[in-house]
Amino acid sequence: KGKRAFIAGIADDNGYGWAIAKSLAAAGAEILVGTWVPALNIFETSLRRGKFDGSRVLPDGSLMEITKVYPLDAVFDNPEDVPEDIKANKRYAGSSKWTVQEVAESVKQDFGSIDILVHSLANGPEVMKPLLETSRKGYLAALSASSGSSLSLTYIASERIIPGYGGGMSSAKAALESDTRVLAFEAGRKHKIRVNTISAGPLGSRAAKAIGFIDTMIEYSLANAPLQKELSADEVGHTAAFLVSPLASAITGAVIYVDNGLNAMGVGV
Ligand code: NAI
Repeated sequence: KGKRAFIAGIADDNGYGWAIAKSLAAAGAEILVGTWVPALNIFETSLRRGKFDGSRVLPDGSLMEITKVYPLDAVFDNPEDVPEDIKANKRYAGSSKWTVQEVAESVKQDFGSIDILVHSLANGPEVMKPLLETSRKGYLAALSASSGSSLSLTYIASERIIPGYGGGMSSAKAALESDTRVLAFEAGRKHKIRVNTISAGPLGSRAAKAIGFIDTMIEYSLANAPLQKELSADEVGHTAAFLVSPLASAITGAVIYVDNGLNAMGVGV
């Protein structure tokens, strides 16, 4: 029987989440998606109108099916956590049950259980500001949205200085990598669940474009990485499919680089 995967953080067909969903679907998994509430409408409409059909094609020629799309805001655990202004916001009021606990309950009700959980989301409201100028609110928001989970996406700014990756996003990724190790221990001992994170190289996704320096990072990688090619989202997708498959049954608590080897360089060339 195929496995069931929940991928949080898909709102278009450009990002890592979409590529991961495709790789898992190609390997036979059933795909459930968690989409950020404000992006839900446009994502579902585009899906329905066939705007993504070109990028839904799997290696065997069939189209990836998404069994269900759940509205999700990963910053709130339950309705009590949601402030009034968000509750009243038009883009949120049209959907319901989008806090983390409610989504988990809905998935449980709909399907009983899942086998694979992927966290492919991030949000740093002050990502354009240096850490030195980041407000407490912006910093905590970055950590709140951007850390936690079973398979996740991280970035080397957690361990090396990447000027421009601000707003506490570097801290959020450092927390994510640390949590990956501790959760690997706790979830491994308690439930035999494996927890890993992929440290991905630069991709011109919607989230990355919001940071502003993504083109520079892609050029830098092309010029300096051991493998001089553009990184495709599929390469991250394939690694994700491997990591959540039985082929990776002894890998847990790991940060796996999928970055054309850029992390191994000590200086630019
Ligand atoms: P993306 O824009 O495709 O994905 C980010 C998603 O997060 C979007 O769909 C957005 O709607 C969603 N999101 C934001 N706040 C949310 C919230 N509170 N609740 C639920 N969903 C929320 O961009 P990308 O780049 O594919 O990002 C996926 C992951 O990959 C992120 O963790 C990112 O930090 C990581 N990553 C990206 C790199 C890049 O160069 N693009 C490099 C290394 C890591």
